[in-house]
Amino acid sequence: MNKKNIVITQKLPLNPYEYLSQFNIYYNNSSIPIEYNKLCELIDDIDGILTTVVTKIDRYIIDGAKKLKIIANFGVGVDNIDIAYAKSKNIVITNTPYVLTQATAEIALSLILALSRKIIDAHLFTTNKKFNIWQPMLFLGNDLYNATVGIFGFGRIGQRLAQLLAPFNVNIIYNSRTKKVHEELLLNAHYVEFAELLQRSDFLIITAPKSDSTYHRFTLKEIKLMKKTAFIINVGRGDIIKENDLIEALNNKYIRGVGLDVYENEPVISEELMSMENVVLLPHIGSATINTRNKMAELCFQSLNDVLLKNIKPWNAT
Ligand code: DGY
Repeated sequence: MNKKNIVITQKLPLNPYEYLSQFNIYYNNSSIPIEYNKLCELIDDIDGILTTVVTKIDRYIIDGAKKLKIIANFGVGVDNIDIAYAKSKNIVITNTPYVLTQATAEIALSLILALSRKIIDAHLFTTNKKFNIWQPMLFLGNDLYNATVGIFGFGRIGQRLAQLLAPFNVNIIYNSRTKKVHEELLLNAHYVEFAELLQRSDFLIITAPKSDSTYHRFTLKEIKLMKKTAFIINVGRGDIIKENDLIEALNNKYIRGVGLDVYENEPVISEELMSMENVVLLPHIGSATINTRNKMAELCFQSLNDVLLKNIKPWNAT
């Protein structure tokens, strides 16, 4: 029997040839993703794609993919794929939930602490040889202990963050599409309306995915409702915050600071934002631990094998 064809759009942490030996693989073994035109050229004969967040699988690609059975997405967010259209063509879409929950919640916690304790500025101060004498008021931060933490999007990552925050004795409020009665009891979290989330949070953490309803949910109007002492942290998707409005809010000190792992026009980030104080910016590394990224790759390999060799629908099909 002829081997099926797979394209892998970007370099992975595990060697795909070891896991996908029963396929012909076009492996773009580079951290620079496959060029759109190259993908269009290959797609006609492809049975499965393993893609990452930076490669768009749009209608045009899907229309060209006569044999395509599966799009395995290396990541939990599938906003790079035209899901509805792919589904209408009976293409299975899989993602990598669960395995990255802990790592992404940890990066949110890291941003909270980096901001509240001014870790980055203090590091730069020290390495720039400015630490000449201990001072009672050097880099005074803000307590996380007893603070009110608002979580926007209370899915797996938001809930894990709530667990990680328990020893800090924080008051957890959240807003999401639905009230999660069971999880509230387990995590001692409380559902609030969006406006209340804005008004009460000392730290407001965005863990929501991209969707029509989350697009630009945070504009100047919403940010102005927040405490002037509050921090916003975004580990969900960049365009949930309108970046220019965020900059205006920081310039006017409507909030105290911001920690971002994702950006509206990723990977382009406004120069102004990059030069601001009280800002910690990361290059979309929420799930970037060795263990997590290996598991994400394994899950993608397993999904391709399930669909293309065993003809079964994987548990992680979205
Ligand atoms: C995810 O898993 O959604 C990450 O943001 C990378 O795509």
